[in-house]
Amino acid sequence: MYKILKREDLVPNIHLFEIEAPAVARKAQPGQFVVVRIDESGERIPVTVADFDREKGTITIVFMEVGTTTHRLGDLKAGDSLLNFVGPLGIPTHIEKYGTVVCVSGGFATAVIRPIARAFKEKGNKVISIMGARNKDLVFWEDELRSVSDELIVTTDDGSYARKGLVTEPLKELLDSGQKIDLVIAIGPSVMMKFSALTTKPYGVKTIVSLNPIMVDGTGMCGCCRVSVGGETRFACVDGPDFDAHQVDWDLLMARQKSYLDEEKLSFDEWAAKHAVS
Ligand SMILES: Cc1cc2nc3c(=O)[nH]c(=O)nc-3n(C[C@H](O)[C@H](O)[C@H](O)COP(=O)(O)OP(=O)(O)OC[C@H]3O[C@@H](n4cnc5c(N)ncnc54)[C@H](O)[C@@H]3O)c2cc1C
Ligand code: FES
Repeated sequence: MYKILKREDLVPNIHLFEIEAPAVARKAQPGQFVVVRIDESGERIPVTVADFDREKGTITIVFMEVGTTTHRLGDLKAGDSLLNFVGPLGIPTHIEKYGTVVCVSGGFATAVIRPIARAFKEKGNKVISIMGARNKDLVFWEDELRSVSDELIVTTDDGSYARKGLVTEPLKELLDSGQKIDLVIAIGPSVMMKFSALTTKPYGVKTIVSLNPIMVDGTGMCGCCRVSVGGETRFACVDGPDFDAHQVDWDLLMARQKSYLDEEKLSFDEWAAKHAVS
């Protein structure tokens, strides 16, 4: 069993758990993920390593409540345990000295991009971070991301905090500004990663995204996480999750993410009905 040592509510529907998992913490690298299962009746879901502490033997995860399993996770508290916590899985983000790296994040991904931004900074890159949220109430870890960046730009879709607009607007301004951008890494909802890729493509700036297809085993066996990159079939769990954003077939990815919408809704409605009476 994997004990939840700490729970923090970052915003109403995004939570942080610090989990006791020494074997995972020994090997985890920025960009990798774990597959979590709450109990015998639970499904397996992938969640990115948001931080790790090798000395304490802990892994931090940050998750957003979207469906049954993430809501069930959201009901747990410090002291509870998870049945399975498999990882670290996937290929770590490739970190080297590029020059100037722009880290773009949206929603819960602000937490998962932080160790990546930190690693790029430690390698001697200039790091410019752009973080976006739908509104003021969903902004979190601004100071944490600023502490690992040379520059930080915050956007909200509705303008209720910081700059109004989508993350792609300051990204385009940076690309137009004349300063040399050597790498862009974008992590967040697929639509945000797709439009980040479309923004950088005309400028020929290398752009990496962390893909989030549906996953089951996370070890290359089930084929659920099949994506098309550069016209070739790849499995995001073992060949990724990081890929060249300009080569990703975004329409296929987003269509496959919707494969089980009816079942997900049914499952969530059942959970919500039981939850309401319990
Ligand atoms: C490699 C990887 C790393 C991830 N890291 C994180 C993380 O750090 N934090 C976090 O909150 N989430 C992360 N996700 C997404 C997370 O796994 C899903 O949100 C979760 O599986 C949903 O389970 P559920 O039962 O709560 O919802 P479901 O009932 O499965 O789905 C509810 C809704 O969420 C959408 N959804 C389902 N799976 C995904 C997915 N893989 N990506 C995006 N939307 C999805 C569905 O289309 C549906 O609309 C990651 C996904 C991958 C593949
Ligand atoms: S999750 Fe099964 S092959 Fe990738």
